[in-house]
Amino acid sequence: MYILGIETSCDETGIAVYDSRFWESKQPAYLGLLGQSLFSQVKMHELYGGVVPELASRDHIRVSLPLIEDCLKQSQLQLQEIDAFAYTKGPGLAGALLVGTSIAKSIAFGLSKKTIGIHHLEGHLLSPLLSPELESSSPHHLFPFLALLVSGGHTQIMLVKDIGVYETLGETLDDAAGEAFDKTAKLLGLSYPGGPAVSQLAKKGTVGKFQLPRPLMHSKNLDFSFAGLKTAVLTQVKLKGVMDEQFKADLALAFVDAVVDVLCKKVKDALILTGCKTLVVAGGVGANSQLRDGFKTLREKTNTHVLYPPLDLCTDNGAMIAFAGAVKLLQNPTLADTSLGFDVLPRWSLSEL
Ligand code: KG4
Ligand code: ZN
Repeated sequence: MYILGIETSCDETGIAVYDSRFWESKQPAYLGLLGQSLFSQVKMHELYGGVVPELASRDHIRVSLPLIEDCLKQSQLQLQEIDAFAYTKGPGLAGALLVGTSIAKSIAFGLSKKTIGIHHLEGHLLSPLLSPELESSSPHHLFPFLALLVSGGHTQIMLVKDIGVYETLGETLDDAAGEAFDKTAKLLGLSYPGGPAVSQLAKKGTVGKFQLPRPLMHSKNLDFSFAGLKTAVLTQVKLKGVMDEQFKADLALAFVDAVVDVLCKKVKDALILTGCKTLVVAGGVGANSQLRDGFKTLREKTNTHVLYPPLDLCTDNGAMIAFAGAVKLLQNPTLADTSLGFDVLPRWSLSEL
């Protein structure tokens, strides 16, 4: 089965084709990825310091069809050969979600094919299974595993028992980790999106110049809170008045250290609680090098297998949607949909799956 995935939940238009036979025959999952095309709107939104929903929708419309053509060319397939169209149904920006949904449903209608609506976070959650690191084996043996989802909108620890069987063990009570990165970047006068910029600047910082709080780090549960940390950064910025480069770097380092400490501590607690020996890290913040260093130490201390998606699949992309669509349809073919209802869910919790 060839599945074409369409991701348009925010500011990235992602298209990919996945051949489900690779998953079915338990070959390394990444081999099934036949083609992928991505267009990032980051440059456009940078001008406004954040994503402008209306502009995002218009740009998804502008680039989707050329990206589909490009992706089919890479996959050496004709549109008619695609068996089903997977699209991001939510959560995300309503208008942006509608673009991908309408394209998937209209092409499927025209060709008498099926669609499947995918939860954006389920896409992220399963994307590490596409890691080329798993080159000699299929990822089927990894279940159950622990997943840390750290993106611009979400921070949660999940127990992944099987495809579609997820238990939320802890989540953020306020800001997501990526959101805290983006807000801190704004306070330090850095460009959007803030995560990579703060991370780079932190590398020039001096350790110990600031002591920032680590909210909920020692709480008994696995929940997070990052709003207070951002406020602590704001307080330092206000106290300083005019910031020089070294001040910004020192504060960025203190911020990154605090986020990494909290994420590593909670993940360690969750590994102990569940007895899982595999951790997958998904979502944009998973690209962060300081967080990866933190997990490297954790891996050495706890003998845990830590798995990341390839760097280009850490942020939003079509591959994770095509892949999630493929494995879900294999597991439950009745999920294939022929309805023409445009049922996007801008707010949709993974626990409602
Ligand atoms: O998963 P994603 O592409 O989009 C969703 O939010 O679904 O994640 C984007 C988030 C942004 O907040 C961005 O600042 C953050 O991931 N991010 C990073 C890094 N790269 C992206 N945060 C820290 N370090 C990075 N290297
Ligand atoms: Zn995302």
